[in-house]
Amino acid sequence: MAILVTGGAGYIGSHTCIELLLAGYEIIVLDNFSNSKPESLNRVKEISGKDFGFYEVDLLNRSGLEDVFANNTIEAVIHFAGLKAVGESLSIPLHYYHNNITGTLILCDVMKKYGVKNLVFSSSATVYGIPERVPISEDFPLSATNPYGRTKLMIEEILRDLYIADDSWSVALLRYFNPIGAHESGRIGEDPNGIPNNLMPFITQVAVGKRRELQVFGCDYPTVDGSGVRDYIHVVDLALGHLKALERVISSNGVDAFNLGTGTGYSVLEIVTVFEKIANVRIPYKIVKQRPGDVAVSYADPSKAKNELGWTAKRGIEEMCRDSWRWQEKNLNGYETSISRIEININYKE
Ligand code: NAD
Ligand code: UFG
Repeated sequence: MAILVTGGAGYIGSHTCIELLLAGYEIIVLDNFSNSKPESLNRVKEISGKDFGFYEVDLLNRSGLEDVFANNTIEAVIHFAGLKAVGESLSIPLHYYHNNITGTLILCDVMKKYGVKNLVFSSSATVYGIPERVPISEDFPLSATNPYGRTKLMIEEILRDLYIADDSWSVALLRYFNPIGAHESGRIGEDPNGIPNNLMPFITQVAVGKRRELQVFGCDYPTVDGSGVRDYIHVVDLALGHLKALERVISSNGVDAFNLGTGTGYSVLEIVTVFEKIANVRIPYKIVKQRPGDVAVSYADPSKAKNELGWTAKRGIEEMCRDSWRWQEKNLNGYETSISRIEININYKE
């Protein structure tokens, strides 16, 4: 019996594949490489020392997906595949709705056809919209502020309806806070296309001289230093949360949402300070106006995942920064092997 991992070549998927393989699961990976590279899967094999089946299939390609189910005995699906850039979702909303929602509808329909009803879904803390207070617990009101967030919210509702119609389904909705960090080997990590939208890859690209300076979005939030506060979680802790959720969906039925976060918030400027210390690199930054749609403070109440899944995040902010840095420093151009075209100018502190 195998676990199908959709989007397994991506940032969180590749880290989860390693933990699944190390825990002894047989896995099948599916990806269309729309936001990832085959090299990440080579490195998953290298780190884990194990092989696995791979299908280059788009979830929108129903017959391709059916082949995967027809040719393998699948026990459960961990569903990472989706588009995730908030800004891009505002420019091309139909593409986001089609890829994320239609892709999930096709996946669930094919799962149903093959009698596979155990699903772990990548949701996001974005489903809390603008939270009234922190820490955020799973029973907070849900809303979305952009098409990407709406796809997550809609998929959560679709999966709840699926269970209402057929209570033999078992679904974990994992609401991730802010994943950063990388595998401690420095062989896999986050490899964004173009200019990074997220804080940590931007910082690491400034650190290696690919970008001149960080823009800090806002210094007038009601926070410790005026910059935005988030719950950063090490991607390996996040990956391990999927293994706990998998055990749960395999052993019981129902639909349940879980926050995967540490419960601690750090401001942008605090992250810059920790990163500079860990990497011994200066991060030049400029404070600019708030980014539209950003909330001041977001951090999780992770107690439900602790009590019901037996999961807690173990890795601290220094380890997160160290592992992000190691990945970037060893892979200046991400998974691209050629580094000759980028100018490398690491600004080590004296
Ligand atoms: P990622 O882009 O690195 O990985 C997603 C993978 O899915 C990519 O490899 C991409 O090629 C693949 N994919 C996309 N659409 C596909 C399709 N139609 N068919 C087949 N493959 C497809 O992103 P990630 O950071 O690893 O995120 C994984 C999941 O977690 C996503 O659903 C994302 O929305 C969610 N999430 C991410 C974050 C974050 O900050 N990284 C936060 C909350 C939730
Ligand atoms: N930030 C900067 N400069 C940058 C990038 C980010 O100051 O160049 C700030 C943001 O304003 C925010 C913090 O750094 O205060 C974190 O921003 P990210 O873009 O890294 O993360 P977000 O919290 O905005 O969003 C992330 C994911 C979403 C997900 C959300 C909720 O990108 O997909 O977390 O979990 F929905």
